[in-house]
Amino acid sequence: MQQETGTTTLERENAVEALRAGAQAPFDDARAMHPSVYTSPEILARERERIFAHEWICVGRASVVANPGDYLTCEIADQPIIVLRDLDGVLRALSNVCLHRMSVLLEGTGRSRSIVCPYHAWTYNLDGTLRAAPQMDHPSSFCREAYRLPELRVETWRGWIYVTLDPSRPPVAEHFAELDALIARYGMEDYVETFREEHVWDTNWKILAENFMESYHLPMLHHATVGPHSRIEEMECPPGRAAFNYHWITKDATLPIGNAHPDNRKLEGDWRRTVALLAIYPTQLVSLTPGYFWYLLLSPRGVGRVHMVFGGGLAPEFIRDPRGAEHMATLKSLLDAVNAEDRRGVEGVFRGVRAPLARPGHLSYLERPNYDFARYLAAKLTG
Ligand code: FES
Ligand SMILES: [Fe+2]
Repeated sequence: MQQETGTTTLERENAVEALRAGAQAPFDDARAMHPSVYTSPEILARERERIFAHEWICVGRASVVANPGDYLTCEIADQPIIVLRDLDGVLRALSNVCLHRMSVLLEGTGRSRSIVCPYHAWTYNLDGTLRAAPQMDHPSSFCREAYRLPELRVETWRGWIYVTLDPSRPPVAEHFAELDALIARYGMEDYVETFREEHVWDTNWKILAENFMESYHLPMLHHATVGPHSRIEEMECPPGRAAFNYHWITKDATLPIGNAHPDNRKLEGDWRRTVALLAIYPTQLVSLTPGYFWYLLLSPRGVGRVHMVFGGGLAPEFIRDPRGAEHMATLKSLLDAVNAEDRRGVEGVFRGVRAPLARPGHLSYLERPNYDFARYLAAKLTG
C-alpha cells in the first residue's frame, strides 16, 4: 500500500474540490473539468473505489458468448474477469485469477470446455469448480473440492453484457429503465456484431469518454473525414439522466445503412433517420443508428492509458440484405479513419491537461453531455 504523502492529499483535495465546484455551476456558466481530474492518481483511486467497484460495467455483446464454452475476458477495478457460457448454457462471470499462485487464467476471447491455468495447469470446470490439479497428492491438507473460482454478478440488457463487483447493486434492467424507454424502438438487442477489436491509447479514460459525448469537434478534428457532412443544426443535446447522457443527430445518411432499411417496420417518421449517441455511465459509448451501431467500452489502465473494446455491426434488416456487409465494410474503413483522428485529438488533450498553464475554458451548448458527465463524476467522487 502506497503511503499517502502531503502532496498527493493536497492534489486529491484540489481535484475533488475543483470537481465539486465545477458541478455546482449552472450549465450557462459551465467549464471543462479541472486538469487534475484527468491527471491525479488519487482521483483514479477514488474512481476505482466509488465508481468501478459499484457500477454495472458493460463488457461486450452477448453474442460473443452465445455458445457453450464461449468466453471473453475483461478487467474491472483491477479484477480480471472471465465471462462465459457454461456447458448448461448458463451465463457466468468468474474471477480470472488462479486459486494456486494467483496467475491470470485466460486472455482474450475463445471457446473451451475447461479453464486451464497456463502456469501449473490447475484445471477448472466452467462453473468455477476445480477439476484437476497435477501433483497435488501432497500436502495431505489439499482438498480439491474446497476450491472454486469466485463468481460475480452478470446480467444482460438489450444484447449487452454487464458485470458488477457490487453484490447489492439493483438489477441492470432497473438501472437502465429510463434509457430503455428512450431507445427501445430501435430493437438494439437484435443488432448483429460484425467486428470487435481491442486497443490501448495514451489518454485518460474520461477524455476519451468526453470526446465521444460531444459532436462539437466533428467539423474541425474530423475535417478530413466526416466533418464536412456534420451540421450543428442537426444536433440536439437534452439534459442527461442519472445513468447516462445522450444527444441526437437527425439527418439523411451518406451511406444507406445510416437510415432505416425499407424492411424495417419498427421505426417511423424522423426515427428512420435519427442517430442516438449514448454515453452510458461510466464507460459504455454507443452510436446507435437505424441501420448500424458502433461502440467503445473503456477500461482505465492507469491515469494516462485506456484500454478499449471497439466494435459494431448491423441492424437485422441489413444483415439479411446482401449489400449490408459491403456497406459495413465501407463504414468500417471510415470509422478506422475517424478513430485515428479521435486518437490524435484525445492524446493531444491528455498532453495538454498536464501542462502548468492548462486552464479549463467555457463549454459550448453542444457540450451539454460533458457538463452532465462532470456532475455524475462529482456526485460519485465528492462528499
Ligand atoms: S498459478 Fe495457476 S496453476 Fe499455479
Ligand atoms: Fe470524434
